[in-house]
Amino acid sequence: MKQQDKIRVAVLYGGRSGEHEVSLMSATNVIQHLDRSLFEVVPIGIDKEGAWFLGDDVFKKELTSPKLIQLQRDSNRMLFNPDLIGKVPQHLQPNHLIQQHKNSERIFDVVFPVIHGTLCEDGTVQGLLELADVPYVGCGVLASAVGMDKDISKRLVMNAGIAVPPFMIIHQGRWSQNAEQFCTLITNQLSYPVFVKPANTGSSVGVVKVKCEADLMTAISNAFRYDVKVIVEKGIDAIEIELAVLESERYGEDPLVSVVGEIRPVNHEFYSYAAKYLDENGAELIIPAAISLELQEEARNTAKKIFSVLDCEGMARVDLFIERGTNRIYFNEINSIPGFTQISMYPKLMAASGISYSELLTRLVMLAMARHTRKSKLSRDYIAT
Ligand SMILES: Nc1ncnc2c1ncn2[C@@H]1O[C@H](COP(=O)(O)OP(=O)(O)O)[C@@H](O)[C@H]1O
Ligand SMILES: [Mg+2]
Repeated sequence: MKQQDKIRVAVLYGGRSGEHEVSLMSATNVIQHLDRSLFEVVPIGIDKEGAWFLGDDVFKKELTSPKLIQLQRDSNRMLFNPDLIGKVPQHLQPNHLIQQHKNSERIFDVVFPVIHGTLCEDGTVQGLLELADVPYVGCGVLASAVGMDKDISKRLVMNAGIAVPPFMIIHQGRWSQNAEQFCTLITNQLSYPVFVKPANTGSSVGVVKVKCEADLMTAISNAFRYDVKVIVEKGIDAIEIELAVLESERYGEDPLVSVVGEIRPVNHEFYSYAAKYLDENGAELIIPAAISLELQEEARNTAKKIFSVLDCEGMARVDLFIERGTNRIYFNEINSIPGFTQISMYPKLMAASGISYSELLTRLVMLAMARHTRKSKLSRDYIAT
């Protein structure tokens, strides 16, 4: 394919969440493996303040470490800054790439958001891209927002007849007035251990396993550092499994659900931030999961149903628990932009199901383009019938 016919894919990386560094790892892999015979890659980094920078200089380096795509604030390379919304546009400093594309409409055709967590994966960036009428990979605004919220997603999944761990929600305003009453209520209604989590974080940021009432207050107060809503769940003694779901290439058909993967935290009480990212040997990923074929099938059906119940598009990783003893399947959470390093569960599960990392990236970009084409045909005006 000729250079000018290639689809220009903007890979968004970094972001304003606590998972900024995780995103750098994922994006390093995505940038390296997008099929260059089909795509031109336009890396765009979002710094922790939310400004977007053209990151084409990443190609000058060998991408051996995510540190190499770490962002430097350089006003000459700035593409967008949410601070600008509502302000009179400033004159952009000349820059060779921006200059080069001055007369074309955009410097990319489609966006691949490889950013995780709050203000990234939660529908905010997706909303911005909708407003800008740009095709983007993955779930739309609604599914992204719902998927990020551990309270709302659980309520919808529960409504579809799928089990979720018993949980309670605490809003910050109420907590500050009634902290002790909440602790008593939790102790009476949920048995220990419980898991305390900010309702909208990922990568186990702010997640604490609490074994007795004495430790509850501190855990909840700490979770409120990350969110104004906190969820407290009954701990399930379970095998943790994860499934990768990919929208079908044929519009309207069932999505492809991967084989089942199992997570076994090693030397960690649960799959914490440390087990995920700080300790190289913090967890084992077992594919396929060491569970019966019947349970695998049940898990795959459950994941497919959850993808549809939460209105997902493109991709999602569905995380489930299988309770030891009862084999009951519980929904834990859904990730609309799962970890995307080559050793992350989502790409590994897809690979084990016959879709290579590069092929997966190609499919996701094509799905994004197809959805945009479909939606652009919808009428926004009243049509008399
Ligand atoms: N109700 C629960 N029962 C048992 N373990 C849990 C429960 N909730 C969370 N965990 C443990 O905490 C980890 C992180 O929680 P999770 O809800 O998946 O948050 P995150 O979105 O940050 O990954 C899980 O992978 C699991 O190991
Ligand atoms: Mg999780």
